[in-house]
Amino acid sequence: MHNRVDISFPDRSLPCVTGLFGPLFFADCSRGARKRDTQHIPPRDTQAQSNSMSGLIIDTQDANLVLSLGGEPLHVLKDINLSLGPSEAVAIVGPSGSGKTSLLMVLAGLERATGGKVEVAGHDLRALNEDNLAVYRRENIGIIFQHFHLVPSLTALDNVGLALEIARPEMPLRQAREAAAAMLEEVGLKDRLTHLPGALSGGEQQRVGLARAMVTEPRLLLADEPTGSLDQDTATRIGELMFSVTRKQKTAMVLITHDPALALRADRRLGMDRGHLTPIAGEDQS
Ligand SMILES: Nc1ncnc2c1ncn2[C@@H]1O[C@H](COP(=O)(O)OP(=O)(O)O)[C@@H](O)[C@H]1O
Ligand SMILES: [Mg+2]
Repeated sequence: MHNRVDISFPDRSLPCVTGLFGPLFFADCSRGARKRDTQHIPPRDTQAQSNSMSGLIIDTQDANLVLSLGGEPLHVLKDINLSLGPSEAVAIVGPSGSGKTSLLMVLAGLERATGGKVEVAGHDLRALNEDNLAVYRRENIGIIFQHFHLVPSLTALDNVGLALEIARPEMPLRQAREAAAAMLEEVGLKDRLTHLPGALSGGEQQRVGLARAMVTEPRLLLADEPTGSLDQDTATRIGELMFSVTRKQKTAMVLITHDPALALRADRRLGMDRGHLTPIAGEDQS
């Protein structure tokens, strides 16, 4: 028998979350605009979903990223052409420093391409301002990281619930909590709702990470070496879970991984080599 878990909202305003979790959702954390005031939040943009001329979820053409870091410009991404259909999963493999994370950052709208076209879910990312990029992320993108980046002071339920509260401010709070609890149950954490991340194993933390990314029903999941910190058995289970949850929700996925078995689960595989997206020998590129 388990105690019933209270999924009502604690009486608190949402914390201004810093670190990597922050920019995923907040245009400007310093505003402290955590009140559930929908006045200033644009309505969910369903129009863009039908605006995509190509019908693709990702459509980049000759996308480039050049970072200027004071000294020499650093050409991180070179003429990236990536097309991904809705519900499709592509794995990207490549050595450290080749530009894989940078590509995810560009697709997430956290880094702005310096040349070419980057269209995701019908949005021309190079044309959006920072506020609209934040809205774009909330409505379309889920991200999971190698090192989880859960908020350590929040329970599993609060980590997932917070993501949904922020992404869907119009959703009644109780409904958001129930959806967060259901999502955690789906990833096998029904009995861990009130655990803090520090009391969870690595595999369990990544399950929370996956639940947090998927509770908003994103159109695109970006996964940056999601099993890189896990032992092989746990990695295999998390990989299976990622594919089952994304397939159930019909979410497209860009999966960066060093694990060949995990990459093989994707519909396609591509390499990243010194900023170039490359075909992989033996892969049908059609
Ligand atoms: N914010 C940044 N500041 C300085 N260099 C960066 C930054 N982001 C990426 N780079 C550089 O860009 C290159 C690609 O990095 P990254 O995308 O993290 O590669 P990968 O994920 O494949 O390991 C590396 O040379 C890295 O040092
Ligand atoms: Mg990386």
